[in-house]
Amino acid sequence: MKNERVNAIVEDLVDVIRGVMLKHSVTNDEFKQAIEFLEGASRETFELQLMLRNFFEITTAVAANQEHEGSAANIAGPFYLEGAPEIANGEHIKVLEESNGEEVTIRGHVKGTDGKPIEGVKLDVWHSTPVGTYSGVHPGIPADHYRAKLTTDAAGYYEVKTTKPVPYQIPHDGHTGQLLTMMGRHSWRPAHVHFKAHGEGLVEHITQVYFEGEDYVDSDCCDAVIDELVLPTAQVNGENVITKDFVLDPA
Ligand code: DHB
Ligand code: FE
Repeated sequence: MKNERVNAIVEDLVDVIRGVMLKHSVTNDEFKQAIEFLEGASRETFELQLMLRNFFEITTAVAANQEHEGSAANIAGPFYLEGAPEIANGEHIKVLEESNGEEVTIRGHVKGTDGKPIEGVKLDVWHSTPVGTYSGVHPGIPADHYRAKLTTDAAGYYEVKTTKPVPYQIPHDGHTGQLLTMMGRHSWRPAHVHFKAHGEGLVEHITQVYFEGEDYVDSDCCDAVIDELVLPTAQVNGENVITKDFVLDPA
């Protein structure tokens, strides 16, 4: 049965790709090389997924941002895990003692598009270790570390303390890494903190925060950095403080 949306998208996709092939006079040999390259990637576990996410996941967030009034959504990345430990407002996320990360406090308010604070929003926070790995994914870091779920109070306020993440290098020993190298690009993401906010009657909101002035903010391999999400670090009573407010759309 014909699916109108599939047809509309694939027809446009084919047109765009044909246009690129004509623009660059792609030869039959190059066409065959491209097919072999993609077949090679598909034989590696998760490689096509990695490649497509690297280049296109951000576009789903940008498309969602066009439709919504709230604060900017961003890519989810592959490392969200259900069941992060619940912590109280102001508590420290569980981290490995020996990792000696730089301390940071992230706090802010969650509001609706009407400007009113929203109580009871569940906010998942997850980020890399101070050596750029993810708990429950990479070896040696239990899944209940570097992840937490907190709940906004009556003022819509949340606050979490943790150790600062560092830049993350996507897997780069396969076809995605090869392609980025051929393009003269690197395979690094700037340091970032992931958030997922959900509450009754609200559109689920997935986003990230980046640190102003830090490495790779201007050259993210995933092209996912959105200006609004690059935040300054303030010094408040000797603490590094990032203020990240959320505006959530009604469902
Ligand atoms: C990837 C990893 C991340 O932590 C992220 O935020 C985005 C992408 C990745 O491995 O593709
Ligand atoms: Fe990430």
